[in-house]
Amino acid sequence: MNMRFEPTRGLSGELQAPPDKSVSHRAALLGAMSSEPVRIERYLNAADTNSTLEAVRALGALVELREQEVVIRGTGLREAREPDGPIDVGNAGTLLRLLPGWLAAQEGRTFTLDGDESIRRRPVDRVTEPLRLMGADLSARAGRFTPLVVRGTHLRAISYDMPVASAQVKSCVLLAALAADGATTVSEPARSRDHTERMLLRAGVGVHRNGRHVTVVNADELLLDRVRVPGDPSSAAFLITAGVLVPQSRLLIGDVGVNWTRTGFMRIVRRMQGIVLGDLEDDTGELIGEEPVSDLDVAHGALEGTVVEPEEVPLAIDELPLVALLGCFAEGETVVHGAQELRVKESDRIAGVVEGLRGLGGEIEATEDGFVVQGNGGLRGGTIDAKGDHRMAMMGAIAGLASKEGVEVLGMEAAAVSYPGFVEDLTGLCS
Ligand code: S3P
Repeated sequence: MNMRFEPTRGLSGELQAPPDKSVSHRAALLGAMSSEPVRIERYLNAADTNSTLEAVRALGALVELREQEVVIRGTGLREAREPDGPIDVGNAGTLLRLLPGWLAAQEGRTFTLDGDESIRRRPVDRVTEPLRLMGADLSARAGRFTPLVVRGTHLRAISYDMPVASAQVKSCVLLAALAADGATTVSEPARSRDHTERMLLRAGVGVHRNGRHVTVVNADELLLDRVRVPGDPSSAAFLITAGVLVPQSRLLIGDVGVNWTRTGFMRIVRRMQGIVLGDLEDDTGELIGEEPVSDLDVAHGALEGTVVEPEEVPLAIDELPLVALLGCFAEGETVVHGAQELRVKESDRIAGVVEGLRGLGGEIEATEDGFVVQGNGGLRGGTIDAKGDHRMAMMGAIAGLASKEGVEVLGMEAAAVSYPGFVEDLTGLCS
């Protein structure tokens, strides 16, 4: 579905950020691993997170969709059922990377994970490597792609030094650690989102953090009871960008998750002199179970270029395309370093952002691990191909609202993966 977004002025109104995709995936998986029913309030109803509900159903969990909540009656930590056929992860990279952690310890049962065209191009060796060190038995097509076959077996605890800062890899190992012998430690080169650690802590698991090292002690069962999913800061980032870029705008975005491992983008926007008011969580060095939320007040204003350094990248990984878009409207140069991970997202987001924004009149160059943008007074407009990537589609839409001539987005339906009400929300703010 192609859709045109015309230049506009004065976005205004109040709205709630849609529920968090990362937290929803984890709530469904930990719900399925729990022995007692888990009630999830504000579970994200979108393609990716619905794939997770289907997956846990196939593994023997009962999933009840109620008006205000999703209730999951799990199988317990070690009792996932062997499904009749392959588990379809759809387009969900997080599901593909987290689920093998749980399944690897299901002794005597075999599972196959597969997904759509885009998933089939995304590497799984980043999770099969540490799982094999734990004793897991896995095989992937060409050694690194789906279909991925997991033969459940007995696992041992490890200490694992992650080569890349990836919350998906970290979470996979921590889930496997729950049913392994002893205590497992994962060390990350830079801090990444910590929703898994927070939720495990709330489920009664022994989780300890010491700087960039996280240790999980094996457990008999998870006791989670209830999860409330906060608004997704990555989805809110599109609304923030619209509010900052479109002249005369003023938006109030409610219930946004402000866990400090997710607020890198808001801090980058503030550094660019963008107006984003609200209480962001600070890192106190302590691991807590809570997922804090805040209302954000956003207004249009002039921007300055900035430099995003590698340690900041995991804290804003999904929002970096928007940093490039903001850079096109900022005074001076905006540079992102250390973001080679963008090449293995739903699409190669370095190539996609550079090609996409150039096509709209942006002055942007790709580097091996990021991009360099010269602000040149905003974007002319034109056509952008989402290439099946939800975040590229939504970036194109916001670019259109802030452009001089409007933007046609090819493949706008991709937004449904994480933010099904995106176009309606934007329309509401325009009227
Ligand atoms: C996610 C982690 C990030 C992010 C993805 C969701 C998660 O991936 O890009 O959209 O929920 O753990 P990496 O951990 O691989 O960087």
